[in-house]
Amino acid sequence: MTISSNMNNEAPKLDLFSSEFKEHAYPFYSTLREREPVYRFTLPNGQIAWLITRYKDAQAILKDKRFIKNPHTLLSREQINMMFPTMERDLLLNHMLSSDPPDHTRLRTLVHKAFTPKMIEGLRGRIQEVADTLLDAVQSKGKMNLVDEFAFPLPIIAICEMLGIPPEDRNQFRDWSDILIEAFNRPEKIQQARPTFQSFIKYMNHMIEDRRKNSTEDLVSALVHAETEGEKLTEKELYSMIFLLIVAGHETTVNLIGNGVLALLQHPKQLEKLKKHPELISSTIEEVLRFSGPVELATNRWADEDVQIYESLIRKGDMVVVALASANRDETQFENPDLFDITRQNNRHLAFGMGIHYCLGAPLARLEGEIALLTLLRRIPNLHLNIDAETLKWRPSYLTRGLIELPLVF
Ligand code: HEM
Repeated sequence: MTISSNMNNEAPKLDLFSSEFKEHAYPFYSTLREREPVYRFTLPNGQIAWLITRYKDAQAILKDKRFIKNPHTLLSREQINMMFPTMERDLLLNHMLSSDPPDHTRLRTLVHKAFTPKMIEGLRGRIQEVADTLLDAVQSKGKMNLVDEFAFPLPIIAICEMLGIPPEDRNQFRDWSDILIEAFNRPEKIQQARPTFQSFIKYMNHMIEDRRKNSTEDLVSALVHAETEGEKLTEKELYSMIFLLIVAGHETTVNLIGNGVLALLQHPKQLEKLKKHPELISSTIEEVLRFSGPVELATNRWADEDVQIYESLIRKGDMVVVALASANRDETQFENPDLFDITRQNNRHLAFGMGIHYCLGAPLARLEGEIALLTLLRRIPNLHLNIDAETLKWRPSYLTRGLIELPLVF
């Protein structure tokens, strides 16, 4: 992939969604960091945006109040409707990750207690049990597709249990969230996604009505209670919050486990080191997050006023995309950034973002990642790739970075 210059005023097209882009992303980012760290480009939907690739700039923008998440005050109704159709946007995108203070603060405060390290530590026993049960099901087969049989079910079971979604309904969430996320990023797919949207809303309606009548101990009950009693949450925000927690709770951790196992298999010395020293698991997880993080790009931000960075003028209303994956390989921040080293010190990666939108689920993701990798290596120490690594495919996805499948033999 080559970079075209911005100097003529035409912003080159960049399909950040495609598997092809994912395959070549790291060398591309490296060139951008050196030559055009604030890169103006056009998304497939015609939207012009700026791609930020250096660590220092990424960190600064994530913390900068001039870059906001809710573009309603900046863009015209037509521009917004072109990006997200009204009905879907109102019901599913009214969540903390698309809000600015004070709404953001109010929404985050409603759920943050459920995600503190102390609360999450209380789930350790259950997550371990789930990891063991999933491996019981594959151990005698001698092979598995790690993504479908282990990396995906573990986090979806954890977040669904927190929310109170019954086991028989969990699998459909993956299909639903895949289709809806794609549609939000590719307006041409909206029409096709409408039936999925209807099924999702119907399911949520049913679940919310049920909790109104029979309140239980789960997170959905607590949120329904906040909506009816405290006037702290509108109905649209309630739908959007549940949608965000389901999507963020599994679309990401599946990739932490998948990308982590791949990185270890491709670096056998590191793998052996971890097997011998399981106490290195925390720094291993941090290194996977840095080296092959599940979230490649932070969610869209908009400039609330003109901002000059180097020779680029980002104008009020322009969209900005921070490439977390690129910042995490920035040579000015990390020594030998392309080296996968599970003992790396001072690993201040940006894989969970930074600032007020710093990942709410980070303690949960870390716990799931640690349990998943350690249990896998303890129970199935002789893992091998069952496919030529060159032919592995990255999922076409705008924000995340994860494998479509990871076939293993043992
Ligand atoms: C390894 C797994 C995960 C990674 C790498 C990850 C990464 C991120 C990143 C980068 C952001 C900030 C995005 C931005 O600023 O544009 C974020 C926000 C968020 N994440 Fe995660 N995440 C992970 C797992 C989870 C889990 C398990 C949950 C649980 C529900 C979760 C819930 C959230 C929520 C609710 C936000 C929005 C926070 C806010 O706007 O204040 N994440 N995550």
